[in-house]
Order: sequence, then C-alpha cells, then structure tokens
Amino acid sequence: MTKYPVTKPYFTDEEISLMSKSLESGWVAQGPRVADFEREVAAHEGINQGVATTSCTTALHLAMVAEGLGKGMDAIAPAFTFVATENAIVMTGATPVLCDICRETFNIDTIQLRNIIESKYTSKEGKLVNKETGNVLWGIVPVHEFGLCCDIYEVNNIAKEYGLKVIEDAACALGAKIGDVHQGAFGNTSCISFHPRKSITTGEGGMILTDDEALAKRMRELRTHGSTVSADARDKGKGFLLPEFNEAGFNYRMTDIQGAMGLAQIKKLDTIINAKRKGADGYNKFISEKLPEFVTPAQPKGYYHTYQSYVCMLNISKLGIDSIKSGGEYRNILLQKLEDIGIATRQGTHAVHMLGYYKNRFGYKPGDYNNAYACDHLSITLPLYVGITEADQEYIVDTISKTIKEM
Ligand SMILES: Cc1ncc(COP(=O)(O)O)c(C=O)c1O
Repeated sequence: MTKYPVTKPYFTDEEISLMSKSLESGWVAQGPRVADFEREVAAHEGINQGVATTSCTTALHLAMVAEGLGKGMDAIAPAFTFVATENAIVMTGATPVLCDICRETFNIDTIQLRNIIESKYTSKEGKLVNKETGNVLWGIVPVHEFGLCCDIYEVNNIAKEYGLKVIEDAACALGAKIGDVHQGAFGNTSCISFHPRKSITTGEGGMILTDDEALAKRMRELRTHGSTVSADARDKGKGFLLPEFNEAGFNYRMTDIQGAMGLAQIKKLDTIINAKRKGADGYNKFISEKLPEFVTPAQPKGYYHTYQSYVCMLNISKLGIDSIKSGGEYRNILLQKLEDIGIATRQGTHAVHMLGYYKNRFGYKPGDYNNAYACDHLSITLPLYVGITEADQEYIVDTISKTIKEM
C-alpha cells in the first residue's frame, strides 16, 4: 500500500456542494458554471477569454486548428514533454519537428530552436519551407514543463523574427509567472490542463486562454461541432431553429458538473501553489543537506515555479555511473525499491523521440535529442501535495539516501 502518493488532488466539501447544485438544477452539460469557470481562470491569469475543453490535449488541438495548423505544415515542439504535445500536432495532420531541451529547466533550448529553424528551412515566397519535406513551418509549441515557464520571451523573439505562430502548452503551469506576468499573458494562445496530476482538477478538462476575442469566438464554434447561430434565428429570434454548421468541428465541451468542480478548485489555487512551493523549499533544503546524488529542480531568477511536479535529476557522476543508459537502469531499480516501501515516485516525463510511434515514424536515435534522453532516464518526481509535512519530506529524503547506500 502506498503511504506517499506522488500527488493527490485537494478537495473539500465545496466541490461536492457545487457539483450537487449542478445536478439539482438539471443542467449538467456545458452551461453557466463552465462560463463562470472560464471567467475565473482567465481573470486569475490576467487574460480576457477562457475556452474550456474536455482536456488540454483537445485544447491544444482546437487552438492549433483555429490558428491554421494542418497538413503540409511543421510545428516545432520540445523533445521532452508529455506525448500529448506532439500528438495534438499529429491530430491536425501537421508534422512535429522536435527540439532538444535544457537539462536544468527541462524546457525548450532556444539556441537549438534557432539552429533548427536556420538549418532545416529555407525561405520561399515569404515562407519557411522544410528543405527535406517541402512542409511550411507554421510555428512553435513551447511547453512550460512541470510548472516552470520556459524562456518564452526568447521564443517570442524568434517567432517574431521568422514570422511564426506560437501556442504555449501550459498544461502544467496554471499560476506560473515570470516577474508579475502570468503564463497565458505572454502574448500567445496558451492551453492548460485540469487532469488530477495538475494543480487544480476537474477530473479531466482543459482550457484555452487568449486575449483575442474573435479567435475565442471561432474556438467556441469549433468546440461545438462548428456551430454558429443561424442568421435567420439571430434576426428573427427563432430559438427553435438549429444552428448553422459551416465547418466540420468537434465536441470538446466541458460539462457543467466539471465546471462546478472547477469553480470550487480555482478558489483553492493560490493555497495549493503556496503549499507546493513550501514543499519544494523543504525538499530543496533536505536534499542539499543529505542527498548529493540528487540535483534539485531549478527556478531561474525572476521565475515563479508552481511545482505541479517536483522533479529532480539523478547525479550519475556522484554515483560513479558513466552512461545515461546505465543511469536509467540504476534509477529504475531505486524507484522500484522506494515503491516497495510505500514511496511513490515517477520518471519526470518522457523523451518523445524514444516513444514507439515517433521513433518508428522518424527513425530517431537516443542521441538525436540527448538532453531529452538524459532527462527521460534520470529524472525523478518526488511526492508533493497539500498536506505533506516537513517530517514526511525529511523521512522521504532520508529513506532515499539510505536506499542508495544499500544499493
Ligand atoms: C506538457 C503536457 N501537455 C499536455 C498534457 C495533456 O493534458 P490532458 O491530460 O489534460 O490532455 C499534459 C498532461 O500531462 C502535459 O503534461
């Protein structure tokens, strides 16, 4: 039985009370509670428009379609991220082009990003065209991994310089900031997740944030099968007429039961983030004192990390291990031993180029994105949630240290 889960959602009676009201009202499909939830989340991040969806994956897909990504196009995304980032690109018919990350932040390496654009593409009739495939480069999908914003201002500079779009995968990053600016307010469309691993949850769920009202309107239409209110119904107030469907859209609607849960959760967001930041401080302290085999997660100056996950790296040189592959094998044995004694951990996330679909389709080798490969093999997420105590954290760090000594 797991004593320390890797994370757990933070619920009180308020979720039950608000969800019950949705049931009692008889209105359970997307309705007023989703609209209120959209407003509250957008307001928290300093943005005008929130468009709730069934997940962050569908939010990314919807946003990408609305911003013109499709067949015959490329989108650059980091090689170390949850596979949904690239899957959403594939869902549009476009081709993901991977970019390596920085090991310290787990986020996209903007030097590599510029190199990829300059080496893989050539300018033709005002567009950047892939020299091998002929695909047009549409843009960049940077990820704010684990709750730490990427170097988004440099990504924006590069995008501006080359005339590219940016959609931010902010699945993990609700509440994250650079200075006083929240994710979502960096000038691009961004997509967040409400999966239970994230800071707040609606079971499953996602949301697109944008300041562009026309874009939000189009995304709302695409979210509901591509429906628009018919001109006839609008002009004559004929509510019994079905809408018009001028585009083949999707059903990506969040339910009002989830909207109710979200309304209770968003009130707790700051409490949850504060608790996780305090927990991260606790781990940073104990690890620096007692566990030299672990490297703690970075929080660059001016960045506000929300620690959706607290992810360390195994310091293989301290362990006398000389290859990433052997380090990964050691890491997996360690995590198994911890699981056996009730401490749940996880690898941070995966190197997308090593996952079957991408490896087979593009013929990738481990070293093609070496930092992503290293983070895939050497990252370790420690338990972190509202309610974990300093004593719990010290016990966890002591237990890891003892386990390593015995290995
Ligand atoms: C970086 C990233 N992108 C996308 C997703 C997909 O989110 P969802 O599960 O809400 O579809 C996740 C979820 O873990 C994620 O971590």
